[in-house]
This record gives sequence, C-alpha cells and structure tokens, in this order.
Amino acid sequence: SLNLVEQSKRSAAFAAVDKHVGPTVRVLGVGSGSTVVYAAERLLELKRLNKLHPELLCVPTSFQSKQLIVDAGLRASDLDDLPELDPGSGSFASIDVTIDGADEVDAELNAIKGGGGAHLREKLVAAASRKLVLIADYRKDSEVLGDKWDKGVPVEVSPLAWSTIKRQLERMVPKSRVQGVSTADAAAAFEFNHPIAVLRQAVRKAGPVVTDNGNFILDVSMGKIYDPLAVEQLIKMVPGVIEVGIFSSMAAEAWFGNEDGSIACRY
Ligand code: A5P
Repeated sequence: SLNLVEQSKRSAAFAAVDKHVGPTVRVLGVGSGSTVVYAAERLLELKRLNKLHPELLCVPTSFQSKQLIVDAGLRASDLDDLPELDPGSGSFASIDVTIDGADEVDAELNAIKGGGGAHLREKLVAAASRKLVLIADYRKDSEVLGDKWDKGVPVEVSPLAWSTIKRQLERMVPKSRVQGVSTADAAAAFEFNHPIAVLRQAVRKAGPVVTDNGNFILDVSMGKIYDPLAVEQLIKMVPGVIEVGIFSSMAAEAWFGNEDGSIACRY
C-alpha cells in the first residue's frame, strides 16, 4: 500500500486526468517526475476502457516521460512535428492540454519546477499548450514560492561557463530591476541579499548532473520569491542560462492531494 504522500500524488493525478483527458483530446503533453507516473497509470486504464481519443498523440517532456508514454502503449510525438491548433488566432498552441508535476505552487499558480532537471522541455511544452494543469501532493501547496521548496530554483546552464554563470547569479540583488518589464521596481523581488548557487551533483556517478539536453544545473537558493516574474526574467537574462525553473502565470489549474485524502483544485 502507498504512504500518504504517494497516495495524495496519485489522487491528484487521477482527478486531473479524469477531468481533462477525454475522448476529444487529440494532443496531450506529458510532464516528468514521480507524480506524473500516476497520471500515466490512469491514462493506461482509460485506454483499456476505450475512453481516450483513438489517435491520441502524447508529447514527452523528458527521457523519463517518453518512456512512460511508450510503456503505456501510447504514441509519442515531437513538439515540432505538430501543427498549430488555432491558426489565425493569437495562440501558437499545438497541444490541447499538458499535465505536469511541480516542486512548489504558490497562491497565484506560479510554480517552481526542475527538481528532476526536466524544466527546459517542460517549459517548451507548457508554452505550446492551450492549458497547463499541475498535479502535486500537499507538501507543495504554498502561499509564496521558496516557502516550502528549500532546494533552490533549478537553472539549466551551458557547461561552457557554469562557474561564471554561478558567480553572476550569486551577484543578483533583491531589488535589481528588469528594465521596462518589472512591475516591482521598488520592492524586493526575493528574500536573500546573497543568493547561493550550487552545481547539482549526480548520484552514483562522480561529477555534475548532465541534463537530457547535455547541460548542467545550478540550484539557486534565494529565500522567498515575492515577484516570480521579475526573478524569472532576471535569471533568464544571464548569458548562458538556458532555462529557469520558475513558471510564472503559465498554469491554469493545480490539483493537490490533501493529507486527509481529499482533493483540492485551485485555478
Ligand atoms: C522535473 O524536472 C520537475 O519539474 C517535476 O515536474 C517536478 O520536480 C515534480 O516532480 P515530482 O512529481 O517527482 O515531485
């Protein structure tokens, strides 16, 4: 039997899949991480019950996610092989809905992702989706980012200059502004006066984690994040940063399995 945390991941995943993946959904983005494993479990059940679109295409967000899709007997598609869903509209979406995990989700559905190192492809797929739906256990349900997730903001960087990038990230100051785009010119965007960036180390191999894309990851601790959009922009502007695991205003909905066994949906 599953422990409480696993149980809550599973119930959130099942509820989100049941709500969003009916027979009319043609293209589905599949996230990464341990919670998405339960979403794949539910997809397999729905497939057996004939409740999925017969030509459902799944877009993976990592090596692990591709494996989940293949193991469930579903068809995987590359993001760039898909046509636009709404030509002539303002949207460039090619995916109906994406279901993904998160490391922390705040009151406004901004999220930290990349604990599993997959946030580059997760963000590409999320941006190309009409709707991003997050699934998580109760430990990740938060008011302010950085309050519960204490491993830092995952930042995928070029191995060519990881050490120089680390120094630049550690020189960010809470009140720095992003010219013309930040709404928080005067207020602190994050808590720490001196962020600390750590090169993520591999387990069972000496040396750094190498992402699916051949890059490194810096985990940047900066305390609470008061202005996720400003922090996302600040980090992204450092040369050599490939993607930052802050997803500002991307999710439309988040499902949490609660400690008492109930399910909460925030939108
Ligand atoms: C992968 O890089 C992450 O963005 C995951 O979506 C996130 O870490 C959630 O993973 P778990 O479901 O395993 O907590």
